[in-house]
Amino acid sequence: MPMNDSRLSAPWWKTGVIYQIYPRSFQDSNGDGIGDLAGITARLDYLAWLGVDALWLSPIYESPMADFGYDVSDFTAIDPIFGTMDDFDALVREAHARGLKVVMDFVPNHTSNLHPWFLESRAARTSPKRDWYIWVDPTPDDDPPNNWIAYFGGPTWTLDEKTGQYYLHNFLPEQPDLNYRTEAVKHAVWNDLRFWLERGVDGFRIDVVDRMMKDPLLRDNPPNPDYVQGRDNPTRAFLRVYSERYDGIHDLIKEFQRVIKAYENRVSIGEIQYFDDPHQIAPYYGDYESDELDLPFNFGLMLQHWAARTVRQFVTAYDAAIPPHGFPNYVLGNHDQHRLASRLGWEQARVAAMLLLTLRGTPFIYNGEELGMENVTIPQHQVKDPQGKNLPGFTRDVARTPMQWSNAPYAGFSTVEPWLPLANNYETVNVEAERAKPDSILTLYHRLLGYRRRTPALSLGSYRPLLEADDHCFVYLRETTDQRRLIALNFSGEAQTLALPDVTESNMGQLILSTLLDREEQVDLHTLHLRPNEGVIVEV
Ligand code: GLC
Repeated sequence: MPMNDSRLSAPWWKTGVIYQIYPRSFQDSNGDGIGDLAGITARLDYLAWLGVDALWLSPIYESPMADFGYDVSDFTAIDPIFGTMDDFDALVREAHARGLKVVMDFVPNHTSNLHPWFLESRAARTSPKRDWYIWVDPTPDDDPPNNWIAYFGGPTWTLDEKTGQYYLHNFLPEQPDLNYRTEAVKHAVWNDLRFWLERGVDGFRIDVVDRMMKDPLLRDNPPNPDYVQGRDNPTRAFLRVYSERYDGIHDLIKEFQRVIKAYENRVSIGEIQYFDDPHQIAPYYGDYESDELDLPFNFGLMLQHWAARTVRQFVTAYDAAIPPHGFPNYVLGNHDQHRLASRLGWEQARVAAMLLLTLRGTPFIYNGEELGMENVTIPQHQVKDPQGKNLPGFTRDVARTPMQWSNAPYAGFSTVEPWLPLANNYETVNVEAERAKPDSILTLYHRLLGYRRRTPALSLGSYRPLLEADDHCFVYLRETTDQRRLIALNFSGEAQTLALPDVTESNMGQLILSTLLDREEQVDLHTLHLRPNEGVIVEV
């Protein structure tokens, strides 16, 4: 089949690039120092220019904001901090008018402790909704039933004094876990999903989707043999063998998927564990196309030591592990992790951008990474993230600071002091300045996105690693029946010369994009020169 036809028939989420917006920090439109929906709508032209295909909004539902929206008190209402339902409808309409899809974050594992379901569940042991959450009697010594530790520290159990039982929460006490062994819970949650599907959203990023099933016997988690006290996040002291990903999880995800797939053209993206081993990701695709998740998140690139060999080995193993009916994806940053430029440095952040946008798999870009935004140091007394409050040193605020639009006061994000401090570098690292600079990282993202969109080999072509013994460079081909592109990425700080004798008959290729944005030329593949920290795309 000619490539253009298959590209037309491939679902949008296989050919497209998804951009994550953290709404609190994207654009404030009403002068309260917190981003909102109208602000996002006002910036849609930027996203269309940038060249992404879809936006995923971190949660905007009604929430007491104990975990900044990941604690939902009404799944079918917009929190007033972000605006109104009309603002939401306008955002979807305006996004669609620009050819941009809108993906919502959905948080089914838990609700807020102020959600009416939990208030009712908590009211009495005999409440009709008691079994919507997981309630357990204390041990004879009055202790919690087991050793499970919450992600944000402390036990996963909180005692409700009035009814004398503990309830389960894998995150904050303000985020009680729903009990998916109760049929009525599923029906209620599916109805809330349909509410948004009917409103025209193009899919969901489903929060901690693999954690919805727990061991009904509530057995103790075993100690984590790799855990080093003092070095590691103390919540990693035990392996979460029984407190999540328990039997039944795949059937539950399938049910979830059926609700979404009853609507045409919608995508399901699932946040699963940060697996290092790609074989642990593969089962979340299910047994046939769209049986489970369309895109179970692959966070592997964020876990690898950043070196040509380890990244190549991971990508090659992951690509091979994806079942034939599945489609890969790659994530380099999100609202829970340190900034890419802070992890890898400025120069390798460019190489990483070229990698992300030339691999076989749907790319995810976290807002601000395209500017090279860096972690912002937040003094402990200004930390807002509950994880950072409970576990000093582990705050996620560092990557959630306001988007840097211009060198105007407050970086053009707001007219007042923003909810989190701005980066000091905003006067130079910002959209306006970087758009005007032909060699900025933003220009690189823009060029890469445009090129990926016009080049089916990059979205749908096969992936084949070359020079597999090379320690400095990661080199691969992306190919369809009528297109071939060679990508060569220098992970080292020294110049490298690569010998690629067998790629074409003439041995010549056309270099069309360098991460340094300063050359387009014919190159001889016998001796392909790469400067320190340079990546290139070559038409071959
Ligand atoms: C996910 C989110 C994170 C949130 C947690 C609890 O990991 O990405 O931000 O705190 O789930 O909902």
